[in-house]
Amino acid sequence: MATASGTTADYSEKIPNNVGLHEDRRLQRALESWQPNFLSWWQEMGPALPARDVYLRTAVSVGREGWAHFGHVAMRDYRWGIFLAERDPDRRIGFGQYLGEPAWQQVPGEYRSQLRRLVVIQGDTEPASVEQQRNLGATAPSLYDLRNLFQVNVEEGRHLWAMVYLLHAYFGRDGREEAEDLLRRNSGSADAPRILGAFNEETPDWLSFFMFTYFTDRDGKYQLGTLKESAFDPLSRTCEFMLKEEAHHMMVGTTGIDRVVERTAQLMAENDTDDGAEVAARGAIPLEVIQKYLNFHYSVSLDLFGGETSTNVANYYSAGLKGRWLEGRRKDDHKLADDGMLVDALVDGQIGQAEVPALTGLNTDLRREYTADCQSGVNRWNKILAEAGLPQRLALPHVAFNRKVGAFAGIEASPDGQLLSAAEWAARSPQWLPTDVDKTHVRSLMQPVHERGKIAAWIAPPRAGINGKPFDYEYVHLA
Ligand SMILES: [Fe+2]
Ligand SMILES: [Fe+2]
Repeated sequence: MATASGTTADYSEKIPNNVGLHEDRRLQRALESWQPNFLSWWQEMGPALPARDVYLRTAVSVGREGWAHFGHVAMRDYRWGIFLAERDPDRRIGFGQYLGEPAWQQVPGEYRSQLRRLVVIQGDTEPASVEQQRNLGATAPSLYDLRNLFQVNVEEGRHLWAMVYLLHAYFGRDGREEAEDLLRRNSGSADAPRILGAFNEETPDWLSFFMFTYFTDRDGKYQLGTLKESAFDPLSRTCEFMLKEEAHHMMVGTTGIDRVVERTAQLMAENDTDDGAEVAARGAIPLEVIQKYLNFHYSVSLDLFGGETSTNVANYYSAGLKGRWLEGRRKDDHKLADDGMLVDALVDGQIGQAEVPALTGLNTDLRREYTADCQSGVNRWNKILAEAGLPQRLALPHVAFNRKVGAFAGIEASPDGQLLSAAEWAARSPQWLPTDVDKTHVRSLMQPVHERGKIAAWIAPPRAGINGKPFDYEYVHLA
């Protein structure tokens, strides 16, 4: 099945791939010896609900002619593989000190440890989310949602493969050790936690899952977008293909929150009430609780972008390792050595802005792109509220709200950006972040609906099914 252009996945191989793995026996053997470890990790840490088969999308080609094949498969037999976007033989570096030079096909010795670190940090998030979501199947609101959860899970597993391929193929012995460690660390583990904070938070209910796929997978989209610009071409091509899969994860989040808001709005309008207790009593999630979950997931996802200023990131940029979001569309010199920018900062103890060299402000640049994208979701949910005739609106909290990383880590702020004392925060934060009571209520709604064509009462059905199939399709056959 492998073609000359190398875009079609070869499924005759033990490890499906479009990188000509059979031509490199040593690499092939190394990955084949990692494969059983991956499978035992999947058994142990992957989806806990036993399913006979799931209607899944599998990548079969990365080309423009279409790349996805749909069919019922047992998750354990999912064809995880290695797929890179097509190589552009003329690709040039788009930014930094090597601007205009041919993209690298190998890792330059001087950037080896930095590139390895970038691959490891990205790679660590992929299996982490599978671990965080492993118990959700037991409380799925419908077979359609269950299928989407499993699709996200197998693709995050494939993203782990993508990063492990890079580690094995380009980083020698250290790379192989890092690949082992990606399976050794676990989300929330006391001894060996995942690297980034948000990936050690549990995803205990489906509202959290939708918020995670909306806000945290979207952080992934922006990180992958910067790595797609990398001078290191195999990393760039890997990320380009991962971004296509990531789009589905965010669709799950966007439409999932749409449907939660829609159901709540429907009950509020029908009963002419804005009383959260009444909405809760009728089996849906009060709007103020949705807002609290939004506040939480958005703020922890902002932390994933790192500090407002970073000399590491400035160095990554200048070295060509990590670019900006849509670097090619930026109208500047793509070197930024003489530019400045305003970043969010604590100025004389107040929430404000400070001017810094543009290179050190690149985390802020990326976070702002992300925030603008997040706002588009909020606008869409507000449209659902408006169409139901309701005056209430959802909103993104201020950048200083609930931050544990960066300029605002040491202060407390309200969702509208007012600086608060520790006492004020303690008194008021239960209005802004999910309390134990909220969480217990949301979890109490999470009764499984595993019957074909049925759906839980707290969420509206989707407007469309998957791959043209109806909502009442048998997306999953449970064991
Ligand atoms: Fe991913
Ligand atoms: Fe994802």
